[in-house]
Amino acid sequence: MHPDIQTDKSLKEYNTFKIDSRARFFVSVNTEEELARVLQLEDYPEKFILGGGSNLLLTTDLDALVVHIGIKGKEVVGHEKGKTLVRIAAGENWHETVLWSLEKQLGGLENLSLIPGNTGTAPVQNIGAYGVELKDVFVSCEAMEIASGKIVTFTKDQCRFGYRDSIFKNEAKGKFIITSVVLELTSEDHRLNTSYGAIDKELQSMGIDEPGIEDVSKAVIRIRQSKLPDPAEIGNSGSFFKNPVIDRVQFERLQKNHPDMPHYEISHNEFKVPAGWLIEQCGFKGKRFGDAGVHDKQALVLVNHGNAKGQEIYDLAIHIQNTVMETFGIAIENEVNII
Ligand code: EPU
Repeated sequence: MHPDIQTDKSLKEYNTFKIDSRARFFVSVNTEEELARVLQLEDYPEKFILGGGSNLLLTTDLDALVVHIGIKGKEVVGHEKGKTLVRIAAGENWHETVLWSLEKQLGGLENLSLIPGNTGTAPVQNIGAYGVELKDVFVSCEAMEIASGKIVTFTKDQCRFGYRDSIFKNEAKGKFIITSVVLELTSEDHRLNTSYGAIDKELQSMGIDEPGIEDVSKAVIRIRQSKLPDPAEIGNSGSFFKNPVIDRVQFERLQKNHPDMPHYEISHNEFKVPAGWLIEQCGFKGKRFGDAGVHDKQALVLVNHGNAKGQEIYDLAIHIQNTVMETFGIAIENEVNII
């Protein structure tokens, strides 16, 4: 057996839902060379790539070699006209990347403060919060092709980012492992994005009239802490579902019965409705089914109160989806990757 490979390893500390699934084999790689070597190991034909484990619900044990991406490194790679390019390795914790950029007085990531997970998995679902998405600062990423071990570059266009979506959830799924990400941040004339109402309100309550990037980050952290459970305290994976988009006919019919339904008009015929609101209307907010539950401050978030099995969380998710469909005729899709 390869010397660094562990057997029958609990993955509880490697997924933010804190599900105690087990990996038949487990290895953590710290460099691209190690990753390439591990991918070539023929004795372990089944491999499962694990990043920050923050968008993952494990419903079974994994009869595979779980490869944990621990590649580290953060560096400034260029400056031009008030912009700074940084390259971040895949295994860097996302929030630590945000704090590092703020220490360097670089702007662009402040609205994305406190999102759990690693930097290498941020492009997969184009993480987003409070009016900003990763794609707004993204330049390119490098990824290792699993079949060949070759490193290839994906430009922003090639990543085909959408709402919680990218090529890595579609055509490139299971074929590439992101190893590093290049972001373009502002070193002067920061473009603060406080358009998301709650940020302005939070800044006011903090007594800040002329905010800087650190203030926006602090405001976002305060808002998230007030609504979203901290994975260090209670297992969760952020938003479990995506916000659904419905057409005008369905929207107008629903609005008649629910005039206070929050919504965002995306185009003349497309309306995004918060899944959290739909789930709350169905009476699930704060409900608990054994150790699986729905967060009491944000119904979009499913939680593990302690020893929930992945399957119990999954059963709850299906129950919620069915109830939302019966009540509103709207399908809500998982945002979380279910294994
Ligand atoms: N709402 C309810 N009940 C709830 C939750 C929300 O009525 O239980 C209502 C709120 O009152 C508000 C609206 O729904 O009017 C939107 O709520 P919120 O601002 O909390 O945002 P969201 O649409 O529920 C999205 C992202 C979050 C992100 C926030 C802020 C998705 C799937 N989720 O949530 O992302 O932090 O906006 O930008 O788009 C994540 O992806 O893990 C995540 C936490």
